[in-house]
Parts: sequence; structure tokens; C-alpha cells
Amino acid sequence: MTESTHSPRHDSRFLKALRREPVDRTPIWLMRQAGRYLPEYRAVRARAGDFLTLAGTPELACEVTLQPIRRYDFDAAILFSDILILPHEMGLGLHFVTGEGPRFHRPLDSVAAIDKLPRPDPNDATGYVMDAVRMIRRELPASTPLIGFAGSPWTVATYMIEGGSSKTFSRAKRLLLQHPEAAERLMTHLAESTADYLVAQVAAGADALMVFDSWGGALSPELFRRFSLNSMARIVERVRAECPATPIILFAKGCGSQLEALADTGCTALGVDWTTSLADARARVGDRVALQGNLDPTVLTTRPDVIAAETEKVLADFGDGPGHVFNLGHGITPDVDPEHVQVLVDTVRRASERPTA
Ligand code: CP3
Repeated sequence: MTESTHSPRHDSRFLKALRREPVDRTPIWLMRQAGRYLPEYRAVRARAGDFLTLAGTPELACEVTLQPIRRYDFDAAILFSDILILPHEMGLGLHFVTGEGPRFHRPLDSVAAIDKLPRPDPNDATGYVMDAVRMIRRELPASTPLIGFAGSPWTVATYMIEGGSSKTFSRAKRLLLQHPEAAERLMTHLAESTADYLVAQVAAGADALMVFDSWGGALSPELFRRFSLNSMARIVERVRAECPATPIILFAKGCGSQLEALADTGCTALGVDWTTSLADARARVGDRVALQGNLDPTVLTTRPDVIAAETEKVLADFGDGPGHVFNLGHGITPDVDPEHVQVLVDTVRRASERPTA
């Protein structure tokens, strides 16, 4: 494994905060920071024609990754790609239906199909993602960390089984309840493939990793632990073994009741959504992991004075001391005014400034 341990990013605010070391001010980046709320993103997206061409062309993926860094000088960049690229390259055929989001041409519709899934070689099947990581690393300021990512096995499986987005996840949950052994094989397969994919992103230049379990909150505590948590724990175990210096953030949306169990995986940090107070999260797990979050993205659609006040509340809720990475509690929405993001960034920088560090 080629990990860069003594990179110019080592002392960046973001990596320091993940190590729970003191920083001069709270680092900030936003989930989905490269996206449709930015006019410069929409221009490149229009040139690409469709999302898969954008994510599949390293030059274009690199350009849109850098756009929010240029505009706001965020403390970290995140690879422009999608959690559904891995299942796409397992042969499911991702496409986007206007107004309806992602769809697979060949969803997982039987237990037999689960056992036929390939384990893609990340440098081959998703070589364009690794090319994008290398290009972004070259183009980013040397001091700006780059986050690589993947979806959690459970969240990715919901799309693979449902064939697209879902409100109830009924098909996916029926698999867990009626065919638990097959579901376990699927989670294990996705965990190993996802770990391969994340380790390859580190080899290509990612400085930190994040796993998005966007739909963990749809499961009962029992099903969450057996299927989602265990598979994320396996990913953490492999990343820890194969890239020991690379921090890994787990974001399980709607899983505030599971923070202790998530911290037990040995991950570096936990993403927290706005339904859990950072003070509460910190009291429960803050001596073991850093915390990332947790402003409700809807706040960004309100007046600037409200944005500033709500941002200060999030900082105060975390309180003094190290180990906070400011973020939203979920991805930024396309209806946000880019000027409002500037208000958020300015507020975090002003209100979190510390005299020593
Ligand atoms: O954060 C970033 O800036 C990095 C890029 C990124 C995207 N998707 C780009 C994208 C990341 C980290 C993701 C993760 C992702 N994708 C998740 C997990 C995080 C979350 O939001 O819960 C999920 C569930 C997906 C699946 C997905 N991809 C959906 C549901 C959609 C459609 C969304 C929509 O609003 O239409 C996508 C497409 C997608 N991925 C877009 C972007 C910027 C919009 C595509 C476009 O330009 O039309």
C-alpha cells in the first residue's frame, strides 16, 4: 500500500480535527459541495450531457471537484463520483431518469443473481475513478486534503434490489427478513468489493475516506447491526489493516441511537445528522471519535441572519475542544443560493476562531 503519511496535508485543519488535535478554527466542507446549486457545475454538467459522462471523464470530474474549493476554499475536497458507480461496474447498468433519480437496468431480482455478482478489480473496472483521484490530487492545492468515498453495503444494496430510489425499501427489507443468509452473503460481497475500491482510492491519492450509509435509519436496531453495521465494520477493519494512516468517517443517517456501536467499529470519525445534538453525541462517543456535522441543509434556504444564528448554534452545541469537522447533516440541495453558502463559511470561520492552536 502506498499511503502518503508525511504529506503537506498532514497538518491541515481537517486531518488534525479528525485526529482530535487542536486547530486554529473549525474546518468545514459540505456533503455534495460539487453540485447543482453551483452555476459553474451546471455549465460543466450541460457540456457533459449526462451525469455518467461527467463522473466517467476524469478531466470533467476533476474540474467539478475543484469548483467549490476555488469558490469557498473549503478545508477538504471530495472526489466527484457517486456511490452507485461500484454497482454500475458490477454490471447493473446505472442510468438516470429525469425527475426520478437513479435507476438500474438489471436490478438484483433473485438470490441466484446475488451469487453471480462479480468482484470488480478497482483499477480496471473503475480505473476512470482512480484516474480522476490522481488528477484531482495533482490539481488541488498541496495543502487541501482529498476525501475518497463509497456507499455502505446496505445503502448500495437498497438501490441494487429496488432498482432505484425508494421510500419504503420494502423489497430490500424483505430480502433481509426472508433470506437472511443470502442477504449476509450480499453484504459480505459488497463489503469486500467496497474495501477494495476504497483502498485503491487511497493508493491513487485520497487522504481520507468516508462511507455513506444514507438509509441505515430505515432499519430496526437489530437489522441495522446485523446487516449494515457489521458490513461497515468489515470495511473499517480492512482499511485499518491496509491503510493504517488513513482516517475513515462513517455517516449513518438517522442512526443517532447507534453512535456507540458505530464508534466501536474503530472508525476515526462519525457523521451526525441534525436529529442528534452534537453535545449529546460528544458526551457518548467524543473521547473515541471525531464528529462531523450537523446543520440541517434546509437552513441554507433561509435568510442570512438565520443561517448565521443556526450555524453558531451548531458550533456552540459541539462546544470547546478538538474533534469537530463542520458539515451539513445531509447533502446540500440544488435550491440553495451560493451566496448563502458563503454566509455559512464566513460564520464558521469567524465564530470558531481560537487564539491558540
Ligand atoms: O459530495 C460531493 O460533492 C461528491 C459527489 C457525490 C455525489 N453523490 C454526486 C452526485 C457523492 C458523495 C454522492 C453520494 C450519493 N449518491 C449518496 C449518498 C449521500 C446522500 O446524499 O445520502 C446517494 C444516496 C447517492 C445516489 C444518488 N446519486 C442519487 C439519489 C442521485 C440523484 C439525486 C438528484 O438530486 O437527482 C444521484 C446523482 C448525483 N450524484 C448528483 C450529484 C451531484 C446529481 C446529478 C446531476 O447533476 O443531475
